[in-house]
Amino acid sequence: MKKLKTFFLETYGCQMNFSDSELVEGLLIRGGLTPASEAEEADLILVNTCGVREHAEQRVFGRLGLFKTYKEDSPHKLLAVIGCMAQRIGEQILEQAPWVDLVLGPDGYRKLPQLIEELTGENHSQLAALAFEVSETYEDLAPTRKNHLSAWVPISRGCDNFCSYCIVPYVRGRERSVNPDSVERQVREQVAGGALEIVLLGQNVNSYRYGDTDFAALLRRLDGIEGLRWIRFLTSHPRDLSDRIIEAMADCEKVCEHLHLPVQSGSDRVLGLMNRGYSRAFYLERVAALRERIPGLGLTTDILVGFPGESNGDFGETVSLMNEVQFDYAYTFKYSPRPGTVAARKKEELSEEEKSLRLDTVIQLQRSHTRQALHSLRGRVLEALPVQKAKSGEGILQGKTRSNFNIFLSAGESCLGRVVRARVSGNTGMNLLGELAEG
Ligand code: SAH
Ligand code: SF4
Ligand code: F3S
Repeated sequence: MKKLKTFFLETYGCQMNFSDSELVEGLLIRGGLTPASEAEEADLILVNTCGVREHAEQRVFGRLGLFKTYKEDSPHKLLAVIGCMAQRIGEQILEQAPWVDLVLGPDGYRKLPQLIEELTGENHSQLAALAFEVSETYEDLAPTRKNHLSAWVPISRGCDNFCSYCIVPYVRGRERSVNPDSVERQVREQVAGGALEIVLLGQNVNSYRYGDTDFAALLRRLDGIEGLRWIRFLTSHPRDLSDRIIEAMADCEKVCEHLHLPVQSGSDRVLGLMNRGYSRAFYLERVAALRERIPGLGLTTDILVGFPGESNGDFGETVSLMNEVQFDYAYTFKYSPRPGTVAARKKEELSEEEKSLRLDTVIQLQRSHTRQALHSLRGRVLEALPVQKAKSGEGILQGKTRSNFNIFLSAGESCLGRVVRARVSGNTGMNLLGELAEG
């Protein structure tokens, strides 16, 4: 069989999946393959998939249909489906799309070079590698990076929370934290490579624990790294957001004034059914504690509407919580049943139309809150990191503020990749506009 020379990797899902793709790319490049700019040209096509909602999986099946035509034109090509959807329904994928050569779960990436070797041998058949490795954290694998200013560093993998709607614990396995020595080494390497910002990743970073090091201790430790400017992290579970963590966020100079704190619902009854482990009052109290200790905090969330049994009254509670908290931004989702989860066993009483109406209501409400938040920042001076030239025009740079707003900044290219002070001059309804502030 022809030797593989090039690969094309496309990724769906959350930051953890994109971060995994950097590891996979690193492995393939070290194995002698080079990235192709188009899937059509590549000897090996990989799709790193997400299984969190049905829509995400349907999209992948659509892509596999397209890749089938590429394989018909060049039969030597290999096609691999990796990541969370592969883990969830790998055997089904091999059956439904018999032109797929390999399904590989998120714990098996180390085996990739060996599996490719097997697939390029004589008379190969489809392969599946879907075992969980409870100790796998990939902490020794070097990722490739496209964005040199901001780097992801996974600090835990898997999830033990079993929110009743969520597939992640089933496809990512048990939660395991990365040794803090290794986290620190990885952060130092990224900083040496030019990163000014690091984003610590985990399904629930707040429950990070390795020996005596909890998440608060980890933040304090990383705050001491010279050359690093900004520390962010994703995702926080409200139940595990302790006072110790809030104190560490407030004390650590490099930890950005931003928190993504998914609430999902404002109704105690629904939160209970979701197995979220906190009440509306608890969530509101955490937000109050955060805002008291961290002035200027940017607060973002996830909202999930249409959970089985969510009544009009329950939905009203979500709307009222949003009005009370006034999030800066919210990722909003319509419930999608995931086979195998506890919620998927419940009967769905809401019609798709009703779920869509609710989704639309929270989207519109959030837009108005985002606009108000942007508007209230007018005239303020914020720290910003411009990372690229904006497509919108000459002399405009695009970046983020410490509080995680997107900002379009009127500034020269010499400001790219530097933390600057920006005066907010307006907004676009979704993003801030600004200019350089003196001093
Ligand atoms: N570990 C993170 C991210 C989980 S997935 C966390 O706990 O926040 C990201 C978001 O997808 C979730 O916060 C939830 O709002 C949404 N989600 C998860 N399962 C879903 C499902 N079955 N249907 C619709 N949205 C879902
Ligand atoms: Fe899913 Fe809940 Fe784990 Fe987040 S915390 S990944 S929503 S089970
Ligand atoms: Fe992420 Fe989707 Fe997997 S949200 S962990 S890629 S199921």
